[in-house]
Amino acid sequence: MRKIPRIKIAPSLLSADFRYLASEIKRAEAASADMLHVDVMDGCFVGNITLGPFIVRAMRKAANLPIIAHLMIKNPEKYVEKFAKAGSDMIIFHIEATKNPKGLIRHIKRLKKKVGVSIKPKTKVSSIRSLFPLVDEVLVMTVEPGFGGQKFMRGPLSKIKEIRKSYRGDIGVDGGINYENAKLAASLGANVFIAGTYLFGSTDMKKLVRKLKNIEYAD
Ligand code: DX5
Ligand code: ZN
Repeated sequence: MRKIPRIKIAPSLLSADFRYLASEIKRAEAASADMLHVDVMDGCFVGNITLGPFIVRAMRKAANLPIIAHLMIKNPEKYVEKFAKAGSDMIIFHIEATKNPKGLIRHIKRLKKKVGVSIKPKTKVSSIRSLFPLVDEVLVMTVEPGFGGQKFMRGPLSKIKEIRKSYRGDIGVDGGINYENAKLAASLGANVFIAGTYLFGSTDMKKLVRKLKNIEYAD
């Protein structure tokens, strides 16, 4: 029997109020999120700087849920060990940021962490197809990476369908996600919804997480 990955919700901490990081993490946990999405930006791979392993370590102390480090950085091979040791449970790198994705995947697996590969809106599925048997998640960006609160792009949606044809693992969507476009993405085969503004901007995150979890997923 074919195993269908279940729907998972990952609030993106980029939209949390960093003055109260620990209580924002608790808010996501109380809302029954499945994991915490942490956006790491270096000001080189993307035009914004966010946080490093030091903050991930602090988050780890405050969190019970798995921490997913979404690395939007150049030279990811140089830093994966630091993010692993800081307490990330999964490391997602960008295919556009590495010349040796298979070596990087092996490296992350040696650190006993789950691994995901992400593609920017204009990057083709063919660039990651050979990695499908090696990764736990494929993350499709639906905004140009760099900032929270951007408008969802419909263009990358067709890639979800294309990936799902030959990939049985988790397919995530990240960028401008709300209930309506998550539903669209789910109908094409996505099952992990990363949302920052939509979830942290709400006063009732629990209700929205429940709504997202009840979206029907198409295999
Ligand atoms: C964008 C980040 C996203 C972002 C999502 O570069 O990878 O995770 O925080 O935020 P929203 O949901 O506000 O677009
Ligand atoms: Zn992200």
